[in-house]
Amino acid sequence: MVNFPKVSDYRGNLSFIEESRQIPFVIKRVYYLYDVPSGASRGGHAHKELEQVVIALSGSFDVILDDGEHRRTFFLNRPHYGLYIPAGIWRELENFSSNSVALSLVSQVYDEGDYLREYEEFKRWITNNDNRAGREFGNYR
Ligand code: TYD
Repeated sequence: MVNFPKVSDYRGNLSFIEESRQIPFVIKRVYYLYDVPSGASRGGHAHKELEQVVIALSGSFDVILDDGEHRRTFFLNRPHYGLYIPAGIWRELENFSSNSVALSLVSQVYDEGDYLREYEEFKRWITNNDNRAGREFGNYR
């Protein structure tokens, strides 16, 4: 979890994110999920190279991360926290509250070839690749 700076005064809060300072990569793309129906699940894939930070800009949701050995659920509900997801990690986003907005800052432009969309394909891929990021994630448990 990354805690972004928060500047508070009587007018409200302001947070900011600077590439290579609050997050460890250059931001190539920004996308956001919104109007997610209750009960819907997003994600359900991993990336070979792409790194990502997910932020609950509004509302709340769960992000389930899986490195092929461990699964861990992160509850996001504050816009000054981000969840860093390294490459080679399976992710699912669930339990979206109404009016939630999930902002993603990512290290690559859109490339379908970077996706691992089948869980078994993901398991094979991490077995056959040096998955440093996944091992680090495992160490946090
Ligand atoms: P998908 O990967 O299913 O979204 P999620 O990760 O939330 O489950 O993407 C849905 C569609 O949107 C799919 O056809 C690919 C497309 N898409 C883009 O064209 N550009 C993007 O930046 C993203 C994230 C998705």
